[in-house]
Parts: sequence; structure tokens; C-alpha cells
Amino acid sequence: MILVLLGPPGAGKGTQAALLEKERSLVKLSTGDILRAAVAAGTELGRKAGDIMERGQLVPDDLVIGLIAERLDAGSDGNGFILDGFPRTLAQAEALDRLLKERGQLLDAVVEMRVDDEALVRRITGRFSCGSCGDGYHEDFKMPKVPGVCDRCGSTEFVRRRDDNEEVVRQRLQAYHAQTEPLIAYYERQGKLKTVDGMADIKEVHQAIARALDGG
Ligand code: AP5
Ligand code: MG
Ligand code: ZN
Repeated sequence: MILVLLGPPGAGKGTQAALLEKERSLVKLSTGDILRAAVAAGTELGRKAGDIMERGQLVPDDLVIGLIAERLDAGSDGNGFILDGFPRTLAQAEALDRLLKERGQLLDAVVEMRVDDEALVRRITGRFSCGSCGDGYHEDFKMPKVPGVCDRCGSTEFVRRRDDNEEVVRQRLQAYHAQTEPLIAYYERQGKLKTVDGMADIKEVHQAIARALDGG
């Protein structure tokens, strides 16, 4: 199965992708995570992307299309992929169609997660993650079970993203509305769009996505 999770910053794409990855043995491809790793490693890609990401703007299409093409070639052990944060522009969506066609693969569904802008700002400013395994948390909605200790790996070190402040979030939201939202109509035309209410709690959103995927 090849699945796209579409939604504004803080909609819960990463959270839901992690749940689906575990449950359905899919490989999660998050362009945001891949780019942040490149920035941390100081690669050429990271040097090109870092400043743009800190401003909350989109990295050029050719860079992200190239890294998705590489990952598709590396394969997924058969079960498929969840794309989290890609595509984000019409050019990226068209490139994805082309890349999949060349590989004889098909995009099964695009799940759009709908959340109000004001809720998004709180989700992002309250977010933190494990510095060791990357597991995601939230000050109000998803604290570690034992305070200060990662549920998944036991690490006591947590980090916040450099682009997770209110000012940059507003810019990321603006980029979403201007450049990414047109994909909703693009996938609706292809008959692939499934919209879920992303305002519900994490478990309910997960169940809604499962129903949307399994119910056809
Ligand atoms: P990226 O890393 O993709 O960031 P984003 O799209 O802004 O989305 P986020 O990761 O912030 O949010 P999310 O939807 O994953 O939410 P999460 O699950 O964490 O991209 C970063 C940057 O990289 C971009 O700005 C751009 O510069 C660049 N980039 C990446 N891809 C690109 C591309 N294709 N083209 C060009 N540039 C690209 O949830 C948020 C918080 O809320 C968490 O704390 C979570 O615990 C909590 N939460 C989740 N669900 C719920 C819920 N239902 N109720 C309550 N809390 C919840
Ligand atoms: Mg994310
Ligand atoms: Zn951890």
C-alpha cells in the first residue's frame, strides 16, 4: 500500500504515520525528518535546506523529489510506504505520479487531516520529542508515561524543533494554504482523497484513518 498523509503543520501526520507504520508494517518516509537529519549531519542537502526550513518556507521541489526517488528505489520490503509531508506542491504531486508509474506502483489513498489553524499553533508550540529515538510527545496531549523518561527507549533527553515557535508556525501555515492546499482538489479529482477530522484525539483520528482505508 502506498499512502500519503496530507495536512497542515501540526495536523498529526508524523503521529499517525508512526502508528500506521507499526500496525501495517509500512515504511514511513517523512521528508521533514529526512531533511532535519541532513541538516544535523551537515550534508550538502542539509546546507541547502537548513535556512529555508528555519524560515518556515518550502525547500525547492527538485531537492525533495530527488530524495523521495532515492527512497522509493531502496524499496520497502513489500508492504509499501507512508509518505508524511510529501507531496507539498502540485509539481511534487505530479512528480510522485510519474515516479510511481515508472516503477509500476500505484498510489492507494491520500488521507487529508483537517485541523483548525488555532489548534495547530498550540499543538506545535507544545511539541517535544525524544532526543534519542525521536518518539513524539506533547505538553498537554501526550506526556511520557513516566515524567521525563521516553516511553519507547528510556532516554531522559528531549529536544524541540528549531522551527517550532509561533512566528515560524504562522509562516509554515501560510505556505500550507498557498502551496499545499491545492493538492486536496488534485487528489479529489483522482478519486483518492479521504478526509478525516484531525481535531479528535490521537486514538480517534487513528481509528478514523483505519476506517477510511479499510472501508474503501
Ligand atoms: P515537516 O517536518 O513535515 O513539518 P510540518 O508539515 O510543518 O508538520 P509537523 O511535523 O510540524 O506536524 P505533523 O503533522 O507531523 O504533526 P505531529 O504528528 O508532530 O516539515 C518541516 C519543514 O521541512 C517544512 O517547513 C519545509 O521547510 C521542509 N519540508 C518538508 N517536506 C517538504 C516538502 N515535501 N517540500 C518542501 N519542503 C519540505 O503532531 C504535532 C503535535 O501535536 C505533537 O506534539 C503531537 O503529540 C500532537 N498531536 C498529534 N495529533 C494530536 C491530536 N489528535 N490531538 C492532540 N494532539 C495531537
Ligand atoms: Mg511531522
Ligand atoms: Zn526515545
